Amino acid sequence: MASSDVDGILQSLVLSKADLEEISDLMRQNMDRGLNRATNPSAVVKMFPSFVRSLPDGTEKGDFFALDLGGSNFRVLRVQLLDGDVQMTSKVYKISQGTMTGTGEQLFDYIADSLAEFKNEQGLSDVDLPLGFTFSFPCKQNGLASAELVQWTKGFSASGVEGKDVVVLLKEACARKKVALQIVALVNDTVGTLMSCAYSCSDTYIGLILGTGTNACYLEKLSNVDTWTGDDGEPRDVIINMEWGAFGTDKSLDKFRTKFDNEVDEVTLNKGKQLYEKMISGMYLGEIVRLILVKLATDGDLFGGQVSSDLKTPWKFETRFLTDIESDTSDNNAECNTILKSLGVTPSPSDLPVIRRVCAAVSTRAARLSVAGLSAVVKKIGAAELTIAVDGSLYKKHPTFKSNMEKTLKELVPGVTVKLMLSEDGSGKGAALVAAVAARLGS
Ligand code: GLC
Repeated sequence: MASSDVDGILQSLVLSKADLEEISDLMRQNMDRGLNRATNPSAVVKMFPSFVRSLPDGTEKGDFFALDLGGSNFRVLRVQLLDGDVQMTSKVYKISQGTMTGTGEQLFDYIADSLAEFKNEQGLSDVDLPLGFTFSFPCKQNGLASAELVQWTKGFSASGVEGKDVVVLLKEACARKKVALQIVALVNDTVGTLMSCAYSCSDTYIGLILGTGTNACYLEKLSNVDTWTGDDGEPRDVIINMEWGAFGTDKSLDKFRTKFDNEVDEVTLNKGKQLYEKMISGMYLGEIVRLILVKLATDGDLFGGQVSSDLKTPWKFETRFLTDIESDTSDNNAECNTILKSLGVTPSPSDLPVIRRVCAAVSTRAARLSVAGLSAVVKKIGAAELTIAVDGSLYKKHPTFKSNMEKTLKELVPGVTVKLMLSEDGSGKGAALVAAVAARLGS
């Protein structure tokens, strides 16, 4: 009886090729709805034009500041672009839970203070370089340096920011703190990642983040962007920030979601939202695994029927545990044992393969789901060969995420040669590149 429960649960996480094709078609319909002016207001996948009109050509030069906010770490950077080479100095500032969920004023004051400290430490207090701001939340942009936050994601809820122009909020905070600021662009991390990879690899048309959250952007023809409000001159392309994490908010993914996905959603700040993201990204995968382990233990299929209080606690099982468990190839399962002990559980030898199978089922489903979305974008672009720039800790650290994606790409877009390229530190570098391209084009 024990094994049938395990098999049943794991089976509910398997997505067949036909399932993925259905999801890919759904994603395509969502993309079209987001791009169309009449359907955009009710569209779930918003397809925001980023106002970035041109990819870098490798000739960009200059000295920039960049800010990177998108998760629990915030970074300030100085990025120097010199003849195709990039030099960066950066400092990480922790964003506490209190700052994430307090007032917008506190959050932006903290950003302004951190910028001041960084400039001071770099001996640049009086230097005012053009600044690119990577702000990795859904924003409706009205220009390169004007972006209204539509809604917070990834556990942020700072008050008084939704519906406001975050560039204005940053300028106000810098004015309060008397920090000089010359902000020239605000970009999503996906856009930064695409720009940064395109700097060295010219057939890069898609940017993808698989980190705390997930999202993608791609280069689209202006003629396909019915919602475009900017000028129609050259270049006749624009990068679209898809905000694909919101896919499924209209219940279209419900038949593929499990009761564990519903339970995760229940304990989030943005219940009912970002449902595709909640099946794929690093903020949530550990929690899905934890809920399955608790269910199996409660049913007597794991840990001799015992559930420790840590294992009962939401968010205690971090996604890095899943990465470490799947990476542990040692004969004595040392890493698995250490992780489970830290959660107050002592696994028996027969528990270990079950735990591994649970982790693998959850991460494989996530990798395959992300490719279902990507395949819709790849088909829409229609190139025979292209590169996808990818960044994010889940993609970088998980042992089989990339290979599972590659296998699934062969299943779903067999006729297209797709290369996944790690775009290390794209969000910091990318913001500077956007600022530099803006300078090159004189915009
Ligand atoms: C969330 C954000 C999105 C970001 C992604 C990856 O989905 O809404 O803007 O790109 O996380 O960080």
